Amino acid sequence: MSATVVVGGFFGDEGKGKVIAHLALRDEPAVVVRAGVGPNAGHTIQFGGRKFFLRMVPSGFVNERAMLLIGAGVLVNPKIFLKEVEETSTKGRIGLDPQCAIIEDVHIRREEESAHLSQKIGSTRSGVGACAADRALRLAKLARDVPELSGFLTDVSGRIHEALWSGGRVLVEGTQGTFLSLYHGTYPYCTAKDTCASALCSDVGIGPKDVGEVIITFKSYVTRVGEGPLEGQLPREEVERRGWLEYGTVTGRERRAAPFNFELAKRAVMLNSATQIALTKLDVLFPEVRGAKDYRDLPSGAEEFIRRIEEATKIPVTIIGTGPGADEVIDRRADLGLLK
Ligand code: GTP
Ligand code: MG
Repeated sequence: MSATVVVGGFFGDEGKGKVIAHLALRDEPAVVVRAGVGPNAGHTIQFGGRKFFLRMVPSGFVNERAMLLIGAGVLVNPKIFLKEVEETSTKGRIGLDPQCAIIEDVHIRREEESAHLSQKIGSTRSGVGACAADRALRLAKLARDVPELSGFLTDVSGRIHEALWSGGRVLVEGTQGTFLSLYHGTYPYCTAKDTCASALCSDVGIGPKDVGEVIITFKSYVTRVGEGPLEGQLPREEVERRGWLEYGTVTGRERRAAPFNFELAKRAVMLNSATQIALTKLDVLFPEVRGAKDYRDLPSGAEEFIRRIEEATKIPVTIIGTGPGADEVIDRRADLGLLK
């Protein structure tokens, strides 16, 4: 088997958490592994009448049969990790790599005290920037040095490859988005690491040949939290009028918004070698779509929008979000012959 990577196509908060929850429930993966930067990202999952905000535990926890892992490239805050393990009752089936770098209070303080990060860049102040810097300097503590984490340590890359060799599915969960990448994003208004699909693979210890599908997630409009350029940004009143107003999962800050950007989407598909698109929040653009589960139920305007995205990017829109719930999804993969 090969792995499926879920990556953000714009500036994060595209709804990867919900897409991953859907894939975890539908595809019965043996392993769901969190890649990406660290607890500066927050996935929102609505499932079983509850709402979860996850900054460390993989969103695939919704499938109780899946093994949950956090890759060596992810920066871990042990307090947040242990709290979420409790909230999601995942002890016993979650593990993290002994080589994950550890965010300490001193990292958070350093970001709060840095006017450059907290004011100019609009950092989430979760300590990831300072921790990533310490890791590059080989000063950071690793998960293997923290007694509270000793019961969770496991060889993440080894577990993933065992699953693949025995025919199991593996889902790699990205955080943030392509244009927040330290390398390919809007530097200096970006996060502390690369966030593209290849970096996600490196975070968890798989190579390019282990990947079958790269599902890039786009929201039906573009949002951005913090500072940095946002082409086509609408005035706040217009964002509110369109029902696009959102608040950040980690910081509670208002997200800025702009209409779907086809040029940015094309570039994101290129940077990630994306093979499929998950398009979320279609119900916000087309309220009559809310809760739809069948592609044939889409109104012609919504179908036309999807066709334009497919024409621009040259890859199919296979998963469509029609509401915040993990089950409010149209999944076209089987119809398009893409479900192996
Ligand atoms: P990061 O890892 O921080 O980039 O976050 P994310 O990509 O997981 O997205 P996040 O959960 O921060 O934000 C997405 C928001 O959209 C959440 O409030 C979700 O509940 C919501 N959402 C996701 N998909 C849909 C959808 O199809 N329709 C509607 N109405 N809401 C959705
Ligand atoms: Mg988020």
